[in-house]
Amino acid sequence: MTTPRFAIYRPIHKAVRQVLFSTSHKVGMSDFSDVADVQEALEAIDSMLSLLHAHREHEDKYIHPLAESRIPGITANFEADHLEDIALSTEVGEVAGRIRAAGGEDKVLLGIQLHELLNAYIGIYLGHLYREETVMQQALWDNFTDEEILAIDMEIVANVPPQMMAELIPLMCRTFSPADLAPVLAGVKANAPSEFVEQVLKIAEEGLPPRSWAKVKATLDHLSLSGAAGGGPAGE
Ligand SMILES: [Fe+2]
Repeated sequence: MTTPRFAIYRPIHKAVRQVLFSTSHKVGMSDFSDVADVQEALEAIDSMLSLLHAHREHEDKYIHPLAESRIPGITANFEADHLEDIALSTEVGEVAGRIRAAGGEDKVLLGIQLHELLNAYIGIYLGHLYREETVMQQALWDNFTDEEILAIDMEIVANVPPQMMAELIPLMCRTFSPADLAPVLAGVKANAPSEFVEQVLKIAEEGLPPRSWAKVKATLDHLSLSGAAGGGPAGE
C-alpha cells in the first residue's frame, strides 16, 4: 500500500461542507415569523459567509500565486469560480440583510427566498470544492512535493488570527480525522504563544472523542520529540 499524498483541500473542505449543510438545515427548519428562529438562522448565515470569505482569501493569497508560478494558467478557472462565489454569496448576504429590516409577513416570504438562494449557492459551491480537490490538487501534486504543499498549509495556519483559530478548532474537531487535525495543532504549537497553544489543545482534548484525541496527542508527542512542525495530511 502506498502512502497517500498530502491533501491540502480535503480536510478544510470537510469543515466547509459541514458548515454549508448545517446552515441549510438551520435555515430550512426556521420559522421566519419567530424572532428567535430568525436570529439563529441569520447568525448561521453570517458565520457561514465569514468562514467562506476567509477560506477564499487563504486560497487566493497562499495557494494561487504559488500554483501559478509553476503551472501558468492553472488558476484562471478557479479565479473565475471565486468571482462567481463572491457574487452569489453577496446575494445571499443581501437577502439576509433584507430579512433583518423587514416586517413580519415579509420576513416569511424572504425566508423562503433565502432558503432557495442559499441552496442554489451551495449546489454551485460544491462543484467548486470538487474541482479544487481533483483538478487543482492533482496539478499541485504533479508540480510540488508533499513537503512544499505542507509548507503552504503551515503558512496558512501560522497566519490565521488567534480569534479565528479558536473558533475553527472546535469545527475542525467535529469534522477532521485525527490525521487531518494533528498537523494543524502542530502548526499552532510551532507558531503561537504558549498560553494560546494550551487553550487550543484544551479545546481539542474536550472536543474530540477520547480515542481520536489519543491519536492526535500521540502524533503531537512524536513530532515534539522529532522537532518537526508537521507531518501528515491537514488542509486549507
Ligand atoms: Fe476555492
